[in-house]
Amino acid sequence: MADMQTTYIMIKPDGVQRGLVGEIINRFERKGLRMVGLRQLTPSMELAETHYAVHSERPFYSGLIEFITSGPVVAMAWTGVDAISVARNIIGPTNGRDAAPGTIRGDWAMDIGHNIIHGSDGEDTASFELGLWFPDGLCDWVLDAESQIYE
Ligand code: RTP
Ligand code: MG
Repeated sequence: MADMQTTYIMIKPDGVQRGLVGEIINRFERKGLRMVGLRQLTPSMELAETHYAVHSERPFYSGLIEFITSGPVVAMAWTGVDAISVARNIIGPTNGRDAAPGTIRGDWAMDIGHNIIHGSDGEDTASFELGLWFPDGLCDWVLDAESQIYE
């Protein structure tokens, strides 16, 4: 199918602690995206630093690494047409206080650091992040409902 993408989505430690894993998965699933990877782990420092290397010079970097390694995250891969931007729209803007109700951050987040979830911001980032968090690869399967979801 044209423009099929896979994006890396990660429920951060605050989302896990607040019991939002099921609700968040439901939002991606009901939209019509296909889950092709799912993993729960407490990230190592090395994994966190590699994931957020692009922010290593920013003032919030050390706090961000401390937060993301503080407990389990839920790492996911979701596939669909334009999945990267579709997922970013489901997630909402970085600061929960600016995010519209109906988005994940708009419904559940009140701060910029503790913002529940991560989503890849482009094709290169997605492929880098998927390789990093899913070194054993993804689950390739056919979602029969896609014949109804897409024209
Ligand atoms: P993410 O990468 O987590 O999906 O979030 P994003 O694209 O909306 O935001 P990004 O600019 O990539 O920043 C990555 C994460 O760093 C934390 N952050 N803190 N205190 C601050 O000014 C600040 N700015 C960013 C957030 O947790 C953000 O999600
Ligand atoms: Mg980002």
